[in-house]
Amino acid sequence: MSRAFEDRHGRRPRKLRVSLTDRCNFRCGYCMPEQPQWAPKDQLLTADERLRLIRLFVERAGVRSIRLTGGEPLLAPELDGLIARLRGDPLTAKLRLSITTNAQLLHRRLPGLVAAGLDDINVSLDALEPARFDAMTRTRHRLPAVLRGVEAACEAGIPVKINAVIVRGQNEDQILPMLRWAMDRDLVLRFIEFMPLEGGALWRRERVFSEAELIDHVTGEFGAPVSLGADGPASYYALPDGGRFGVIPTVTRPFCGDCDRMRLTATGALYTCLFASRGTELRELLRGGVDDEALVAHLAAASRAKPDGYAQTGAVERPITMHGLGG
Ligand code: 5AD
Ligand code: SF4
Repeated sequence: MSRAFEDRHGRRPRKLRVSLTDRCNFRCGYCMPEQPQWAPKDQLLTADERLRLIRLFVERAGVRSIRLTGGEPLLAPELDGLIARLRGDPLTAKLRLSITTNAQLLHRRLPGLVAAGLDDINVSLDALEPARFDAMTRTRHRLPAVLRGVEAACEAGIPVKINAVIVRGQNEDQILPMLRWAMDRDLVLRFIEFMPLEGGALWRRERVFSEAELIDHVTGEFGAPVSLGADGPASYYALPDGGRFGVIPTVTRPFCGDCDRMRLTATGALYTCLFASRGTELRELLRGGVDDEALVAHLAAASRAKPDGYAQTGAVERPITMHGLGG
């Protein structure tokens, strides 16, 4: 593999997150405004445009896993077809193919996803107590469908990870119940520190429930956890009774130095960092008939110019919020 994609810290893209839509059926406060403006349909990349970019990232940059995101990826009609096409193409057939979903529609969509060749699922779930869940997601009565979706995925034998963002003052009381629930079901649960990414409306430093506090909190109930080391962005811990959980310490221990991710938004902007103030716009290039070599040159230039990350730049102000960026 050429070093054309390597940045000055030796980081290269290995994981590509592809947002299929900026729409979502939830309105999590840490992710989007209550009345979001969706991108017009004609600005969304087509499945063919997405596939072209994915293939170039795999062939030319060495990307090995693809995570399909949103907004909510289960709202994108093309999801199953895209997975099936990636599985059917010799270049991309062996990639790890994952989705990150809120799981409301998962129960219904699971058979199609499994048939298409999906490998695993991350479910974003921040509360188990119905009123808390409704407040976090700014929806009503949807928790049962989410839990049915998680159950269906487990029964189908698809690996599931639960991601819980903890926002102090909103859902820290859900930490212990979620941990018990996940342990009872042998689910991998990861607590994520709240990041300053939603345009500044909700985020405050004091609302970050840190990894250290989380460990203290869990110790009070279950005894002191033992560190199992890191796997990707998550640090895993084992409890005295054998249960496990993960923490993604985005704010107190940023992992920017090892970052191997890139994000392609639904409208075709490439973000090499969550904290970049803008992305590289690819849609007009694609629609203007750019050839593969010129396109790869743009992708490689963006990749080489990857920002240092949160640890160096801190919070950013930018027009795009998480629902447009795919988490
Ligand atoms: N801080 C931390 N995690 C976030 N996510 C979305 N917004 C934030 C934020 N501000 C998470 C979601 C989901 C993933 C896509 O990103 O919970 O698990
Ligand atoms: Fe939707 Fe996920 Fe954002 Fe919540 S965090 S609004 S479920 S995309």
